[in-house]
Amino acid sequence: MKIMQIRFLSGIVCVASLAAQLSAAESLRERLSLDANWKFHLGDDWSKGLRLDKAGANVGPASEKTFSDAAWRTVNLPHDWAIELPFDKNADMNHGYRALGPGFETNSIAWYRRAFELSKADEGKRIYLAFDGVYRDATVFVNGWIVRRHEGGYYPFREDISDVVKYGERNVIAVKVDATKFEGWFYEGAGIYRHAWLEKTAPVAIAPDGIFVYSQFKNNVPTGAAAIHVEADVLNTLTNAVNALVNCEIISPDGKSVAKFKGTQKVDGELPATLKLQSKVSSPVLWSPESPKLYKLITTVSVDGKTVDQKETIFGIRTAVFDPDKGFVLNGKPYTIYGVCNHQDHAGVGAAIPDALQAFRINQLKTFGCNGIRTSHNPPTAELLDASDRLGMMVMEENRLLGSDSENLRKWDVMIRRDRNHPSIIIWSVCNEEGSVEWNDQGRNTARSMQNYVKRLDPTRPVTYPAPQGDTVGGINSVIEVRGWNYHPGPDMDKYHAKHPQQANVGTEQASATSTRGIYESSRELGHVAAYDAAPNQWVTSSETWWSWFGDRPWLSGGFVWTGFDYRGEPSPYGWPCINSHFGVLDTCGFPKDNFYYYQAWWTTNTVLHLLPHWNWPGREGHEFRVDAMSNCKEVELFLNGDSLGRKTMKRNSKLTWKVKYAPGTLSAKGFDAAGKVIAETKVETTGDATRIELTPDRKTINADGEDVAVFSVTAFDAQGRFVPVAQNKINFAIEGAGKIIGVGNGDPSCHEPDTFVPGRSVRNVALNEWRWKILPFPGRNNSAPEYAPAFDDSSWNVVKAGNGEATIKTENTTAIYRAHLTLTEEDLSGPGVQIHFAGCDDEGWYFVNGKSVGETHDWDAKPDFDITKFLHVGDNVIAVCCRNGGALGGLNPSVTADIIAKSTASPWSRSLFNGLAQIIVQSTKDAGEIKLTATADGLPPATTTVNAQPSTPRPFVP
Ligand code: GAL
Repeated sequence: MKIMQIRFLSGIVCVASLAAQLSAAESLRERLSLDANWKFHLGDDWSKGLRLDKAGANVGPASEKTFSDAAWRTVNLPHDWAIELPFDKNADMNHGYRALGPGFETNSIAWYRRAFELSKADEGKRIYLAFDGVYRDATVFVNGWIVRRHEGGYYPFREDISDVVKYGERNVIAVKVDATKFEGWFYEGAGIYRHAWLEKTAPVAIAPDGIFVYSQFKNNVPTGAAAIHVEADVLNTLTNAVNALVNCEIISPDGKSVAKFKGTQKVDGELPATLKLQSKVSSPVLWSPESPKLYKLITTVSVDGKTVDQKETIFGIRTAVFDPDKGFVLNGKPYTIYGVCNHQDHAGVGAAIPDALQAFRINQLKTFGCNGIRTSHNPPTAELLDASDRLGMMVMEENRLLGSDSENLRKWDVMIRRDRNHPSIIIWSVCNEEGSVEWNDQGRNTARSMQNYVKRLDPTRPVTYPAPQGDTVGGINSVIEVRGWNYHPGPDMDKYHAKHPQQANVGTEQASATSTRGIYESSRELGHVAAYDAAPNQWVTSSETWWSWFGDRPWLSGGFVWTGFDYRGEPSPYGWPCINSHFGVLDTCGFPKDNFYYYQAWWTTNTVLHLLPHWNWPGREGHEFRVDAMSNCKEVELFLNGDSLGRKTMKRNSKLTWKVKYAPGTLSAKGFDAAGKVIAETKVETTGDATRIELTPDRKTINADGEDVAVFSVTAFDAQGRFVPVAQNKINFAIEGAGKIIGVGNGDPSCHEPDTFVPGRSVRNVALNEWRWKILPFPGRNNSAPEYAPAFDDSSWNVVKAGNGEATIKTENTTAIYRAHLTLTEEDLSGPGVQIHFAGCDDEGWYFVNGKSVGETHDWDAKPDFDITKFLHVGDNVIAVCCRNGGALGGLNPSVTADIIAKSTASPWSRSLFNGLAQIIVQSTKDAGEIKLTATADGLPPATTTVNAQPSTPRPFVP
């Protein structure tokens, strides 16, 4: 009888889910941002939270019902907790001395938690949970189920969670992030530092990253029509086969439909299938850094006449070839790569870079002529590539580690599938500098396998390996398509090229010249390096040395400077107290250093004339300073207080130098063209102290979408309105209106002031030790038993101290009720809330506060936490637990505690100027209106600037 019933019931379930699948089949995909409103807790206080013995039984923060995160801080993604940690001399130098990683285990694991609702109408759809990047190892739980254990900090991962979510109910995601181990030798951040998404599709849909669109021209020369190839992976999670009709439409950069084509594909049950289609675009508009024109492919999938999916894919039409003789060739013409290597790190926010800040960084790079980024030494967040496509920046995308084992190939595969539609990407890099194996047969074999693998996924781009070798032939260099040169500019390059005339070349990593913005005398103690572009050791070179070599050899394709921006960690040539690198052309904020003008002179067509150092050297009168001119003028004449110090001729790709005895006043220069005409003038003056500060946003209007940012500079000026290059005033910031500050910085590689000001956690912990108890008949499921009520007279019950073994239920299938009192003041209840922690109820428990049920547990090992705030009042409160012993001994375990969480506020935002400048990053909320930022400093008038947050539709999000 029982068996019959089960069969009948499962029949109903099948019919219901088939109906749900059919209706879901008609709905189109949704991609919802999961960035907002995560709860965050630093530390792993739930060592037994992970249950490997039973499915869906994880406890602690992983549990959806018996855990309260009320005391946790609310954060939005992207979030990097490493920048919130203090600096510590004993921490890892290369990671910027943040108190994280080996030796700082308690700071190195954190939990994130978030709830979301799914409607009943979502039943039958495929539901995916996607993370773009978590540093580092992540264990992801949904409703107590472990749905993914993901190792590594740089690759996106996505999980189909359709089976474990609840439709028409609340669901809970918990992510345990373990950043104890490092993956690189540079600052890497910690946490869910990229976006997270909830995606929904019909059961028949385009597979994740399932569209590949690329263009081809005969002989890679872009004349005539472009052949367009589309590969569409269609996924069918139904059990029956379907015939999918795939319609494609191409929209030109000016919004016109320029091609329509289609095909059908049988997709067997529970399998993906790939449909390959071809078309053409006549007279295509080509993508290039100067003219980043983008096309759009709209792919629509229908089954039995019903549209089940539609997806837009941005792509570009262009050719990019690395030629052994001509070097890099873009759209059929030799084209020099003026590139930089970058880590993902910015002042104030660390690795958690908002999308708008990616665009800000690209724009800063473009101002000195940079047209390429190498994403050293890992795949970037997808939004960096979107911004590169849009703004015109070429990309060498780099994989983290050399490896052809299944896990490493999986990562390689994930990276290429995700990114191969981006026109900005011109080449793949297998990894960086694998010194232990690059020269041997195993290194060679592995790189070759990875290179071959790319050909299956992307017939359009070559592969390189950034080799820190000179004229070295064996190992990886012997098989890699494009020889990558890390350093070694000089005769080795010519020798190698002569021996390998069939191999193309590119400068994958060059210079590593160190300098600190606005500093002209090095100091080990202060951790500052003079900005004269001198090579600090024999292996790295000055900007001038590498670029004058590459600039004369087009076959080298140009190259990538180490680095565009300074980054945290690798404080070479120093260590503590220096906490970030000095390699950047720009500092960590993106403020130009003097080398910026060297590159601007030789990488742009602007007329450039720049002098260094500054001319504020009180007390140093008569001291001889080196004065450099960065310029592309034919001749430059230098003057001190109007007297000429000589006119010099500029060699291509170089700079000019004078020795000048200091006298306060004006150091000036004139730049001349070949005809002797003055085409540029500049000066540096001895200034007074700062009397005024100014706040300047990069944009006056931003979007009120809760994501956009305005990047403000604070600049110091003297009484005559001149920039004060030595000002170090401490600045305080206050913000009003529709924005919030998310980070501050100043580019000083030795500054230990905070990047971010987050509220501290202040919790008063009250132990509930005194309980009255009584064995009573089982009232567990009776939520209104009189014994739970505050007014119930328990005076005749025995009093027990929890934990002394007195209150043990000794017979099985027996129930007892425990009651305790919690007295609270008005102040206690003025904070964010009160949570209660139980150390367990053996075997089952029903928990009540002032007569109201707060939850239940059915596992003797469960240690529930409940947010009881809404059940409390000032004065006496009664906590009651009904505990049922199912076998052996039972009862309420000792150590019940209540956490009274105090209101916490962060300290006000501040940052000192470093050599006249600081940066504040302000993010919009979802409210439109004015954002008013005020900067104050002792003795100076306050500066106020507003930006406008204009009404804007936020991207679709999960509430
Ligand atoms: C390179 C390495 C970079 C960085 C640089 C510093 O060899 O690839 O990651 O460490 O040295 O000069």
